[in-house]
Amino acid sequence: MDGVLNAKSLVLAGVATGAAVLGYLAGRRAGRSELLPQSFKSDFGGKGSPLVQYALNHSLREHPCLTKLRQMTLKVPRCRMIAAPEECQLLANIARAIGARKAIEIGVFTGYNSLAMALALPQDGKVIACDVEDTNVNLGRPFWKEAGVDHKIDVRIQPADKTLDDLIDAGEAGTYDFVFIDADKSSYDTYYEKSLVLLRPGGLIAVDNVLFGGKVLQAEKTWDANTAAIARLNKKIHKDPRVNISMLTVADGVTLAFKC
Ligand SMILES: C[S@@+](CC[C@H](N)C(=O)[O-])C[C@H]1O[C@@H](n2cnc3c(N)ncnc32)[C@H](O)[C@@H]1O
Ligand SMILES: *[C@@H]1O[C@H](CO)[C@@H](O)[C@H](O)[C@H]1NC(C)=O
Ligand SMILES: *[C@@H]1O[C@H](CO)[C@@H](O)[C@H](O)[C@H]1NC(C)=O
Repeated sequence: MDGVLNAKSLVLAGVATGAAVLGYLAGRRAGRSELLPQSFKSDFGGKGSPLVQYALNHSLREHPCLTKLRQMTLKVPRCRMIAAPEECQLLANIARAIGARKAIEIGVFTGYNSLAMALALPQDGKVIACDVEDTNVNLGRPFWKEAGVDHKIDVRIQPADKTLDDLIDAGEAGTYDFVFIDADKSSYDTYYEKSLVLLRPGGLIAVDNVLFGGKVLQAEKTWDANTAAIARLNKKIHKDPRVNISMLTVADGVTLAFKC
């Protein structure tokens, strides 16, 4: 039975991976208008996978302000950077399940996941929202306000590395419940280490893009710097006794690491 299941999983994984690479390449060629309206960053099978579409059709429950923010973002250059709705919904569900109150968003862009997180936190909750530029962040702000949660989002415009240091220096180590790492890939390992300092035991780091559009499957000698950073961190986390983990093939891949 296990063998059958494993064989099936392998076939599915193979199909999904092939589709991911094709989807990635197609996405590169395609104009923005051709991107999936519901979940244009879900490259695993994406449009090509009826099962993925079925799962999305039967699970997405997007807050109206999130929908508006996502639609607005489609008109922004580099709109493909936006986090996937099903992934953010999952993270919001986990945040609620672990009773999260303090979160950190590393890489805000137009603030889709910052808003999803703020909606999931209690009234006195806080999202420290880190980005290096405020143009896109400011595009998202009206939607945070409309959703009535802008007071929970504390934007810090400077390298996230510096913001994490500021929080540690302010004596906040061990007090955060949740960190979403979704910014410059070369700093992922730094973000991961500093996040572990800031988290309380039982707190969660979600690392985005861990499958990197399928690039992690390519030969090591062909890796660019970003692929290498992701692939090395994936290897490190797999063996890291400081966390309990799952790597999910949601969207572009997300690793959940719960601090022990
Ligand atoms: C993939 S986007 C984030 C998407 C976002 N999480 C969402 O919910 O849609 C990556 C963001 O990281 C930001 N970024 C790049 N380098 C950074 C750094 N050193 N510190 C903080 N943010 C950075 C970029 O400006 C960009 O807005
Ligand atoms: C998902 O929903 C879309 C839009 O309603 C529909 O066109 C599509 O057939 C659905 N696919 C599945 C597999 O449920
Ligand atoms: C990690 O997993 C172990 C069992 O393998 C469990 O005892 C521990 O409570 C878990 N810790 C967290 C933070 O999930």
